[in-house]
Amino acid sequence: MKLTVFNGSPRGKGSNTKILLEHFINGFMTNERNTFELAYLVRVKDSDAFVKLFQEAEQVLLAFPLYTDTMPAVVKTFIESLEPLCGRKGNPDIGFIVQSSFPEAIHSRYVERYLEKLAVRLGCRYKGTVIKGGVEAIRGTPAWLNRKRGFFKSFYELGKSFGQTGQFNKQIAFNLAKPERYSKFQFWVYRLVAHNLYWNPLLKKNTAFEKRFAQPYVVKV
Ligand SMILES: Cc1cc2nc3c(=O)[nH]c(=O)nc-3n(C[C@H](O)[C@H](O)[C@H](O)COP(=O)(O)O)c2cc1C
Repeated sequence: MKLTVFNGSPRGKGSNTKILLEHFINGFMTNERNTFELAYLVRVKDSDAFVKLFQEAEQVLLAFPLYTDTMPAVVKTFIESLEPLCGRKGNPDIGFIVQSSFPEAIHSRYVERYLEKLAVRLGCRYKGTVIKGGVEAIRGTPAWLNRKRGFFKSFYELGKSFGQTGQFNKQIAFNLAKPERYSKFQFWVYRLVAHNLYWNPLLKKNTAFEKRFAQPYVVKV
């Protein structure tokens, strides 16, 4: 099987998406007959080459981080560049990985619905969307702690079974998406810890703390 992978993170090679994809691809490549190509959508000057890659692909995997409940601009730009291929005979099968900072999968369910529609509009067979929350911290976390979390292994297993069957394993994908939603208690604990130890210091560092409740797009009448 030939897999064409698009990494849609604006962080490119420094991204969490890259880390997750590495595990997926390592698993995928355990089947010796498999091959893959990998493109970084952040290199927007290569956008013509991306369209060509898509056009020639058999199986596409598009992986990206959730940005403001949807996708980074580089991903949207890529999707729009595929418009001439809409409904073309021979379009590849397509599957998606969406990973986010917030731990709950529910944040990614809207973009998941969009991605399914997108596959239909392109005329691609939809392979599904794998959702994984709670990913932001992996970049700064020591490797041993990340290994303990177990989801790197899950991405490896996901890639391995994809490399054998051409499908996302439903059980692995289901487990990766947990928790779908926090309980009220979990929500308050998360809020307390994440806000005080992570987000607020980050906002302060960027002199944006005072603007944390800003709603620049709200029209006041
Ligand atoms: C501009 C921006 C918007 C973001 N929006 C969301 C969001 O709506 N929900 C969420 O859970 N995470 C959000 N995140 C966090 C990223 O999804 C998360 O950090 C991800 O792991 C980054 O992956 P990457 O390193 O592959 O780019 C956002 C990050 C940025 C920079």
